[in-house]
Formats: sequence, structure tokens, C-alpha cells
Amino acid sequence: MYTFENSLAFANKLDEEDPLKIFRDQFLHPNSNDLDRVYFLGNSLGLQPKTTKAAVQLVLEQWQQEGVESFFKGQDPWLNFHDKLLQQLAIIVGAHPHEITVMNQLTVNIHLMLVSFYRPVGNKNKILIESKAFPSDQYAIASYLRHIGLNPDDIIIEVNRENEGEPVSDEEIVEVINQREDELALVFLSGINYYTGQLFDLKAISKAAKSIGAMVGFDLAHAAGNVELKLHDWDIDFACWCSYKYLNAGPGAVGGVFVHEKHHHLPISRLEGWWGVQLEERFLMKKEFIPSPNATSWQLSTPPMLLLASLDASLKIIDSAGWVRLLEKQGKMIEWTDFLLQSIGDSLFRRITPARRGCQISLQFKKNGKEVYHHLFEKGFMIDWREPDVIRFAPVPLYNSFTEIWNFIQSLKEAVNELSLK
Ligand SMILES: Cc1ncc(COP(=O)(O)O)c(C=O)c1O
Repeated sequence: MYTFENSLAFANKLDEEDPLKIFRDQFLHPNSNDLDRVYFLGNSLGLQPKTTKAAVQLVLEQWQQEGVESFFKGQDPWLNFHDKLLQQLAIIVGAHPHEITVMNQLTVNIHLMLVSFYRPVGNKNKILIESKAFPSDQYAIASYLRHIGLNPDDIIIEVNRENEGEPVSDEEIVEVINQREDELALVFLSGINYYTGQLFDLKAISKAAKSIGAMVGFDLAHAAGNVELKLHDWDIDFACWCSYKYLNAGPGAVGGVFVHEKHHHLPISRLEGWWGVQLEERFLMKKEFIPSPNATSWQLSTPPMLLLASLDASLKIIDSAGWVRLLEKQGKMIEWTDFLLQSIGDSLFRRITPARRGCQISLQFKKNGKEVYHHLFEKGFMIDWREPDVIRFAPVPLYNSFTEIWNFIQSLKEAVNELSLK
């Protein structure tokens, strides 16, 4: 618990004392219409590191100079490039490097994981998801079920919210898991709900799922690079994430996958491709699939080098800032934001993000929400509007400051005071 003062001078002091303040300058901050923008949209698309262009350029130059030989030559041969990303990602998601692979994009990877980890047996064939799961997750699960000849309406169980935007407690989820002991084959939730910003208790949910013999997986789009995770220790079977939010690897960046090591050596149903073959065997062009002895066995295709290079550039920044130090600063920013928000009355909005959260806060407006959003945008704050009535914003420890948060809350207060009278 920190002790704060609600003043600009105090916000400046927090920034001066911030050991990570130099990292802000390692990113390109938007400046559209000649207005320096305050970027609070790391929950949607993280900012571009200044080093990304050169990293991508390097791959283009290698391609130009060495052609296909670049897979084997140079400082960072492309053949092994993927593996060097794993160490830093392992720290971020709390896993062993060999439990991670970097490939495809998030929705594609969810499909691939369903192939391996949805294992219905008789009536134990249900999948538990959030009623307000991100639509792509819902489409992936429903279409996969139809593909294997099942009716999604018979299989999917949603943990319901009575009211739109009302968080479901972890206890409620655990209770549903226990009640559905004989039916659940898979529990698949997000780590952080994209709409409410709620961080689920992954450890408790995983424990409950294991205790009834169900598989457990998570969509970590909003959690990877945002909150502390211990995927291995929490005994989670699989997880997938995108790298364009808190991992700052750029639009459509290559996704990440975690598969617990206990699944690496068992016979498993899996869609396979040549890049999943053990490295020593891969270019022997045998008919037989000899899997890599790790999560790489889920890889299908030649890695997208331009995307791996941009992920590498952003992971290097997280590495030099230090993951633990970033989490510490994030904790302080969360408390600072929560403290300042208390100074605004609840005449126009209510906060739907529970205390257990990452960077993102969601404010649900009773009225005039869009006007508030436009007012803030015109002032230079890049935040987002989620239909039907929510403003989301996410101050990020790598590139946002305590003063930006203070300024934002003042502008929010101004807008609320003005618009609550209308
Ligand atoms: C929670 C969640 N799941 C899935 C997706 C879809 O990701 P992709 O477009 O990389 O497949 C997103 C995209 O923002 C998301 O936020």
C-alpha cells in the first residue's frame, strides 16, 4: 500500500522516482494531427518500440544478401531464431522455455489446442466458457464442435452474468466446475476478460478443473505481458496469447502457445506439419513424423521471420526493464489510478473492473459515455470505446507515466462534471 497525494506535483515526483522512466523514450508515441497523444491502449495494440524497424530491416537485409542461406548463416541464423525468444517469454508467463512455442495467431492456435485438449468421453463432453468471452473464442469453439459433428448448444456451458458487464467471481466459476464434475471435459476461460478487465484466479480455476479430471486452458491475450503468471506451477494444460497487446510486437504479431511439459511425451492428437519435427530429423524429409521433444512439436510451418524479429525487438526491451520491476511499477500505477478515480463521483459511470486486475480499467456509463469518450479523445487521450457503454483505458508501466494518469483523471473529471448535467 502506497500513500499518495492528489496533486500534479506528487504525480511528477512519482515519475522522477520511477526507475523505469527511461523506457518511455524507447517507444514511438502517436502524434496524429500534431497533437502529442497519451496512449492508454496497450490492451488493444501496444506501442511500437524504436528498435523494431531496424530488427525487421535486418531480416530483410539478410534475405537480400544471403537468400535461403540466412536460415543457417549470420549472427542469428533463422533456423534457431524462434528458440531465443523462449527464455524471455518463459519468465513472462511462468513456464519452462521448452513448454512454449511461438507460431501463427491467437485464434488459429486456439483451434490447434482444441484438437489436442478437447477430449470428450461419453457424457463428460462439456466445455465451460465465460458468457462474455471474446467473440473469436466463441466462434473457434462453436465451429470446432460443429466440425467434429457436435452441436455447440449441447456442449458449451457458459458461466453467466446476471447483468451485462457484471464480473463473475472466481468462487462462482469454481462452484460451477464442481457442480458439473461428471460433465466437464474442458474449462477454457480468458486470463483477463477483455471487456471488464477482470483478472481470474487461474490457479484456483486450474485446481478445480484438475480435481474433476477436466482439461484446463486459457486465452491470455490480455494477461501475457500484463500480469504475473505461473502457468507451469498452476498445472495449466495449455494457454495461447497474442503478442500485439502488452508484448508490443505489432499488429497481427506472431502468437504464443504454452503446453505443459507433462503432455510432451504422451501420445496426443495434434495437427502436424514439418516444422514440428525434431530439428535433427526435419530436413531428412522422412515420411514419419518425429516430434520435437517439446512444445515446438505443435508448430506447423516455416516461421514468419519478419514477425519473429519484431517480437524479439520488443522482448529485449522487457528484458532490459526487468519483468519483476515492471510488475512492481504496474502495481503502483494500479494503486495510483484507483486512488485518483475515487475523486470522481459516480453520477455518470460505474467501474466494472474488480480490484483483481492488470493495467486495464473499464468504466460503464449510465449516459453520455460516448460524449465523454470524444471529449477525452479531443484532449489527446487515446482510450477506447466498447459498445454498448464502456470506456476502457490501460496505463502501461513500460511507456506510460504517473503524470499522464493524473492528467487523464483530471480531464475525465472535467468531462463528467460537464456532461452529467446534460
Ligand atoms: C481475448 C481475445 N481473444 C482472441 C482475440 C483474437 O486474436 P487474433 O485476432 O490474434 O486471433 C483477441 C483479439 O483482440 C482477444 O482480445
